[in-house]
Amino acid sequence: MPIRDGRFDASINSAFSRINASIAFDKKLYREDIKGSAAYAGALFRKGILSGIEKQEILDGLESIVKEIEEGRFPFKTEDEDIHMNIERRLFEKIGEAAHKLHTGRSRNEQIVLDERLYLMDTVEALDRKITTLLKSIFTRAQKFINVIIPSYTHLRQAQLVSLSHIFLAYYHSFRRDKERLDDYKKRLKVLPLGSGAVAGSTLGIDRDFLMKELSFETLSHNSIDAVSTRDYIIEFEFICVSLLITLSRISEDLIIFSADETGYFLIPDDLTTTSSMMPHKKNPDSLELIRGKSARVIGNLVSIITLMKGLPYTYNRDLQEDKEGLFDTVETTFAVVDVMVEVVKGLAVNENKIKEALVKSKGFLFATDLADYLVLKGAAFRNAHRIVGSIVKYALDRDKSLQDLTLEEYRTFSKDFARDVYEVFDSLKSVNNHDTIGGTALNRVSDELKRIKKELKDFG
Ligand code: ARG
Repeated sequence: MPIRDGRFDASINSAFSRINASIAFDKKLYREDIKGSAAYAGALFRKGILSGIEKQEILDGLESIVKEIEEGRFPFKTEDEDIHMNIERRLFEKIGEAAHKLHTGRSRNEQIVLDERLYLMDTVEALDRKITTLLKSIFTRAQKFINVIIPSYTHLRQAQLVSLSHIFLAYYHSFRRDKERLDDYKKRLKVLPLGSGAVAGSTLGIDRDFLMKELSFETLSHNSIDAVSTRDYIIEFEFICVSLLITLSRISEDLIIFSADETGYFLIPDDLTTTSSMMPHKKNPDSLELIRGKSARVIGNLVSIITLMKGLPYTYNRDLQEDKEGLFDTVETTFAVVDVMVEVVKGLAVNENKIKEALVKSKGFLFATDLADYLVLKGAAFRNAHRIVGSIVKYALDRDKSLQDLTLEEYRTFSKDFARDVYEVFDSLKSVNNHDTIGGTALNRVSDELKRIKKELKDFG
């Protein structure tokens, strides 16, 4: 029986009905809704509100509803607004009167929060597994790249030489922090809202501890107003996805730039690229462009939920129904793009010749900082050394020469500290290995870091 019937004579306005119902998207939560209702039936039975027979009728009815939905036979009705009412109506059709006792002391305001939290509890575990797969694929490639020495970039200009592993491990660290965020988030997510009623709590003295255990929550909400009002558990989850997608987008940008015709350090596997409908030679990195593009949607969804919340008076307001589509889209998009990045990372090839070519073309400027350090070791103040090397770079540029090709006499016109050993500076491996601090790119440091991460990954399962 439609819930409007007691209160209103007229049925719902047809224009309004188009935005009123959420069943088109909240039906995704059917499993969680049914799980919550089954546990609630157990709590009502313990309170003596349901008889043993009624409880069993409800459990059997709910089970057959799951089947109907999964087999595509469930008659969803827009006039029943949402997943909660659709299931209640169907349960009544199946088992009669007992179905109408199920909602005793319960509100949809808490039911939707319960469903969303249960949905996220599963989603978090699945996302955690996906992040672990991504971390492993990055680590596997990083292990292989330790001896590949490549220019690093600041301001998208060549900066200093680093091990390619060091770059991949930078990506690794960002995702590992997202994994950590997800883990920490669980304690705020696994808070049972059920028992909060519409706003003030339950009058039935329902056994919330029982419900908490039944539904695998860790704690109980301690304020019914907060429990039905907050959506910070959605905001926080969406932020973690945004954080993940920002890094995925930046990696995509790196790989697009460094697989371009002008650089070519990387080759994207053919099956992750497309060609042009017009220009037959094209190999476009669309997989990466779409990862970058989809990050915009996920950011948009986060902006949408935080905007939704900012002006809402306490407690439940119907605006909150708009929290779901963005969340589902974020989950779907995040899962899909992580899978694509795993494939890209696995299939990526490194073109060491192109990297070597880039080193030659760099005219030794990648060693400019090492050259300043050389003067510092001879006793110069760094600021002075910086100015001297700046002048040498300018001198070399004016003559279209590499730093390695300047004669010792030329060097000595800039500083008498320069000696024969200056040419030892132009050694890629030495330059890399000079950065020998924790977190630096010296190969022994990168190798230590790889060992540490290998252990860490074992713990991640
Ligand atoms: N469909 C609603 C939502 O998503 C469920 C809660 C409805 N509560 C209400 N009082 N109308 O938020």
